[in-house]
Amino acid sequence: MIPILISSVAFCILGFAALIILFLVNITKYKGPAAGSPEDRVSVHVLVLGDLGRSPRMTYHALSIAKHGAKVNLIGYLETAPHPDLVSNANITIMPLPTPRGRPNFIPFILFAPWKVLYQVYHLAHLLIYTLPPAQWILMQNPPSIPTLAVASLICRLRNSKLIIDWHNYGWTILAGTRGANHPFVAISKFYECHLGRLADLHLTVTHAMARQLRRPPYSITKPMLTVHDRPAAIFQPISSPQTREKTLKRVLLGPDAALIPRLLDGTVRLLISSTSWTPDEDFSLLLDALVRYATDATSSSATPLLAVITGKGPQKELYQRKIAELTAAGRLPNVRIFTAFLPFADYASLLACADLGVCLHMSSSGVDLPMKVVDMFGAGLPVAAYSAYESFGELVKEGENGRGFETAEELAGILGHLLGDEGRTELDRLRKGAAKEGSRRWDEEWDSKVGVVLGLVTKDDGSLGFCDG
Ligand SMILES: *[C@@H]1O[C@H](CO)[C@@H](O)[C@H](O)[C@H]1NC(C)=O
Repeated sequence: MIPILISSVAFCILGFAALIILFLVNITKYKGPAAGSPEDRVSVHVLVLGDLGRSPRMTYHALSIAKHGAKVNLIGYLETAPHPDLVSNANITIMPLPTPRGRPNFIPFILFAPWKVLYQVYHLAHLLIYTLPPAQWILMQNPPSIPTLAVASLICRLRNSKLIIDWHNYGWTILAGTRGANHPFVAISKFYECHLGRLADLHLTVTHAMARQLRRPPYSITKPMLTVHDRPAAIFQPISSPQTREKTLKRVLLGPDAALIPRLLDGTVRLLISSTSWTPDEDFSLLLDALVRYATDATSSSATPLLAVITGKGPQKELYQRKIAELTAAGRLPNVRIFTAFLPFADYASLLACADLGVCLHMSSSGVDLPMKVVDMFGAGLPVAAYSAYESFGELVKEGENGRGFETAEELAGILGHLLGDEGRTELDRLRKGAAKEGSRRWDEEWDSKVGVVLGLVTKDDGSLGFCDG
């Protein structure tokens, strides 16, 4: 194992160096925006080694930069359709990277990973050195950090660009989750991420807790840092008129669920909504367990009937659909109907606004990121019950103000029983107001006042730069 590991890492480093030297021949440097020429506006390469259609935050960064007149090259994979506003925006050019193929089963991870890294280095370096002119800034998403962090920081040095890392999470904690904490690649990727992370000129984080953590070892970042909280997209809006609610439910709920609409409207059936990626890092059994308890607990024998809509695609979906069918057939879910679907995005957004409570099972691998789905739920004015055992939880969900936290299925069942029952109505109303309030601050406000100011695209009233010291 160890010799293979050493050779594959050495192979990566040598290959990386060879590719860069190959590309160095013609390198040009960024010389600053020249006055007058429209082609010499401030330019930013926005980079994510992921599917652009599933990178909402980098999409919003690109749209915000473009809105203020700078030129954006948005770099990433084109797997699903990117946001339509990106495609139609004259200030944004999408620069697709070829997607590396998946690992065939007969090739071990330890051999496949170095090949994949070199493939990515080649295409990324080619794009950033040859195809694109030098930019004033490169704004990259982390994770994935391999090889983006190395390539981007090197190219920034070579081309006189400044590097911004947008920290969504850590690559090594995610790897530790999928490969096990003792896998040798975990130690390597931790070392790599901590050391190369320091090379950026500016850091953006999704939570204050993450910014505090990046200041401390092993990261020990001393450069300027800004927390830019995720905010709901414009498509997520509360619905207050009962007529709109009825129309929306009729549009989205079809088949046997449509029969429940009159009872959803008069509140005798409550609507619960959750979205999940159906992967092991979101323990769906927690919600299923809670629903069984909710439906059958002696204390809630008068449990309000419930329609639970679970949307999302993922590997464990069928497994859980079978479990749900078994539990229903065995009479363990009386008064609870569970509807698993993959709703189109717009339908999902509207249904959030019609629901009584959202459930979030996100368990943070780093302890300091936050679930985007709760941000969206708040945008739709929907209060949440959310898994709470991680450090940054309180930066988004305020206990008793816009939602409730739980750690076990028993606690979740208790929250459902209380909030969806008659005695919980006043509290649920209060949480709903709190959710709408939290969701009313939108991305543009958050971005313009922080990133826009630092990039020099927005002037702040008091002329100050809004750094947090972490
Ligand atoms: C593109 O940039 C120009 C300034 O160069 C600006 O006036 C315009 O509003 C921007 N367009 C979009 C769609 O953001």
